[in-house]
Amino acid sequence: MTARAQLILANRAFLDHEAPRWADSPSSASSGGLLAAVRPVIAPWDGRSGTTWIGVGMGRYDREWVDERGFEILDTPRGPLRHRRLFFGSAIWQGHYGEVANSFTWPLFHLVRVDLPRATPYYPAPVLPTESGWHSFVVVNRAFAEAACEEGGAPSCWVHDYQLALVPGMLRARGFGGPIGFFLHIPFPSLAVAAPYLEGGSRERLRAIVEGMLGADLVGLQTTDDVARFVEAAGELCDARPTAGGLSVGGRLVRVGAYPVGIDPEEVLAAAKRAKPVTRVGMARELGLPVVVGLERGDFTKGIPERLRAIAEAYRRGVRFAYVGIASPTREGVEAYGALEVAIEREAARAREAAYWVGCPFTQVRASIGWDDVVSLQRDADVVFTSSLADGMNLVPLQAAVAQSLRPAGERAVVLAGVDAGVAKVYGGDGSRGLRAVDPLDQESLVAALVEGLAGQPARISDAFIAEVHAHDARSWGERFLADLEESC
Ligand code: F6P
Repeated sequence: MTARAQLILANRAFLDHEAPRWADSPSSASSGGLLAAVRPVIAPWDGRSGTTWIGVGMGRYDREWVDERGFEILDTPRGPLRHRRLFFGSAIWQGHYGEVANSFTWPLFHLVRVDLPRATPYYPAPVLPTESGWHSFVVVNRAFAEAACEEGGAPSCWVHDYQLALVPGMLRARGFGGPIGFFLHIPFPSLAVAAPYLEGGSRERLRAIVEGMLGADLVGLQTTDDVARFVEAAGELCDARPTAGGLSVGGRLVRVGAYPVGIDPEEVLAAAKRAKPVTRVGMARELGLPVVVGLERGDFTKGIPERLRAIAEAYRRGVRFAYVGIASPTREGVEAYGALEVAIEREAARAREAAYWVGCPFTQVRASIGWDDVVSLQRDADVVFTSSLADGMNLVPLQAAVAQSLRPAGERAVVLAGVDAGVAKVYGGDGSRGLRAVDPLDQESLVAALVEGLAGQPARISDAFIAEVHAHDARSWGERFLADLEESC
């Protein structure tokens, strides 16, 4: 039987209600890799069984839509979804989300190979949360664990991502009856690389996070490298011992494995077929210029300033192309993001000037664009330029491969991806199938990869790469994780 999720716990709700009930305008589903990945294993709610999703109430009008316990039945394209929202006050939210999740854990967990705060002028050093910030994190995680325990019938519970890392341990402590799964969507750090930031209490906070994750029966990570780093940290911080299939923790087996996340290719293909070309691409074509596209959340892990610097340098060398860069606003109000904006603006100004001297259109904007425009740009680009300093997976190269499958093989793009992004580890970045791994911190090699990419070198997106993206889609990822979870107890 195909595995379906019973209980999903994720910081983000399935969707946020941003319009009042009376307005009768549909709320759109939250975006982000987590949601796209999990969606295919949601089972419609038939009144007694199906998937229940528990997330935080972040939408302006959420309270209007739910009952006194936060429940509602959401109408989704895949059928009804039983959904519960947990609500928190602003101080608790700031401590949980602002301090622990995004100023400590997020920057810390991306330290996989390079000490990024030292290597760039804008990547923030992970900040040890205050006592009250940590307390808020515990409060939010506890609320999720309690909400899960209120679900009867011992369902299996799938907990997602670093914001809820304490939940598996809390579920176990409360005697939760069903199998407990945890998946980390972001990388797991190297203790050696993160060492400078693990002093003065931070090590203990990381230990608590790892201990929380070890409460699960199955811990999934994106790549085998993440698994190796997690196993090492669990041994060093929590005395967990490697054993067949995972880790032995206090005599209990915790299965640990790599489950590289996928996309929903049908969703991308449908958009690629209907989306109109964006105006800027049309203008570039009229000038006879190839188009380089950079699309992502405006996050300090994405290597955006490094990419802009390489672009400026290519223009200075007389290379001619149009650049369309769009960074969507993210985690606004989280202090750690401030320096990034400055760095992007500085590098964008330099690249814009260099582009001007060779008569090429250059755009770098901070904006949220619709899904169809995202896929349209991915479909029509000649180089899809991602440059993450580190990334759990990075779905943009996978989406681009599928979107470009509508083009003849000889006209497809070359995709560049950061060498420390999961996508480069999982799909191989030697360039022979159209995906080339680049080191965003090695300026010269970044420029060379861009110039070669514009010439279709080392190779354009191949049918083999596209087929692999289809084979490892979100559905198979979710089903594999859930099947292993059922077996893990
Ligand atoms: O890839 C999407 C992601 O990085 C998830 O791993 C994570 O849970 C989510 O974004 C968090 O984003 P936000 O802070 O916008 O909720």
